[in-house]
Amino acid sequence: MRVLVIGNGGREHALALALARDPEVSEVHAAPGNPGMAACAELHGVDPRLDIMDGTAVASLAAAIGTDLVVIGPEAPLAAGVADAVRALGMACFGPSAAAAVLEGSKAFAKDVMAAAEVPTAAALVCVSTAEVTGALSELGPPYVVKDDGLAAGKGVVVTDDRSVALEHAALVLSPSGGGRVVVEEFLDGPEVSLFAITDGSTVVPLQPAQDFKRIHDGDLGPNTGGMGAYTPLPWAPADLIDEVCARVLQPTVDELGRRGTPFQGLLYAGLALTARGVRVIEFNARFGDPETQPLLALLDESAGPGLGALLLAAAESRLHELPPPRWRDAAAVAVVMASRGYPASSSHGDQITGIADAAALDGVTVVHAGTDLAGPGPAAGQLVTAGGRVLAVVGVGPTVADARGRAYAGVQKIDFPGKQYRTDIAAAAG
Ligand code: AMP
Ligand code: GLY
Repeated sequence: MRVLVIGNGGREHALALALARDPEVSEVHAAPGNPGMAACAELHGVDPRLDIMDGTAVASLAAAIGTDLVVIGPEAPLAAGVADAVRALGMACFGPSAAAAVLEGSKAFAKDVMAAAEVPTAAALVCVSTAEVTGALSELGPPYVVKDDGLAAGKGVVVTDDRSVALEHAALVLSPSGGGRVVVEEFLDGPEVSLFAITDGSTVVPLQPAQDFKRIHDGDLGPNTGGMGAYTPLPWAPADLIDEVCARVLQPTVDELGRRGTPFQGLLYAGLALTARGVRVIEFNARFGDPETQPLLALLDESAGPGLGALLLAAAESRLHELPPPRWRDAAAVAVVMASRGYPASSSHGDQITGIADAAALDGVTVVHAGTDLAGPGPAAGQLVTAGGRVLAVVGVGPTVADARGRAYAGVQKIDFPGKQYRTDIAAAAG
């Protein structure tokens, strides 16, 4: 099978690596991809650059390559209907329709679906004015959780005890340059878990739970980011977590979207809080998580069960029930993200990156590229440079979380670029 991956981040590199391991996948293509992906995929749409938001352009590229499956990585093209455009040309595509991707694109819509499907989540009030926000903050009380209703790449959420900070964030969202709708939520206490499921719109195949570290600094301090690291499995998670989340969250949500005539086919990402009162959904995403996908797919065992290509194609072709469940290596994986100067407020570009080959030469270490590029004409032409906020994820795999963590950080120590930032406590509490 010939597979085309759309996107250029760490998630897409991790997808390409796992697809390349699948014996049923003969060719991996990526557009536009990143320099790291060139080792496991043929890159397209690099120069001139493919606009991945342009469904016609993506579908034409897929047709020209003769792909058997298109996998769309990021949320923005899904929300823009790129999966619909690919399917309209008769090609198999892994990723929800624009209509189903609203589950991620609008928190208010997600709340509505959850209410209809009786999925446990935080109480929430949708506000369109300062007066409504003020009322909602008083009603729900501190700590305050204030969210931009729309897509904000993980940065639209403020959790604070300071009412003025909460009001400031709401004002920003309500301002003409903001999204216009604010969601004020009940605060959920307890550890967070990311649980992904591959679904064809009726069958739900859960993957292994992972944990993401959203804040920029050690000790979960500082602003939210897209994610600074992740690990899997979670040795502390309750044994029945997957079954419970499938029964109470994933299957009811998939069934509800089907009932509404907008079946969800793709990756359903449940961001969960394990509170004292039980599991609650914090958010849904309509695509693989980044960076959770990096450690998760590192453990997918295609020698014992279906490979990633087989799973995604079966989902795209509505025959997921025919496949045995995926199997996971009896090991742990930890990913540590290295971010560029200024992230998450800004990001830096053009800083030279060294040491990746030394890191990747370590046993059990893989370097996954995200915001990297090759320098253009000039003295540094062709050298690997930073090109975004999250630059790399160093993934360590070992028999235990502690061992995998040690390997990931040994890799991180080998890599250098000006202004690099990384957390030193990823997975520390887990072993
Ligand atoms: P979201 O974009 O909705 O995933 O939120 C990003 C992060 O904000 C989550 O991973 C949580 O750490 C935090 N968060 C969001 N909603 C809540 C909530 N209701 N209670 C506590 N923390 C939250
Ligand atoms: N790691 C969080 C996300 O992918 O949204």
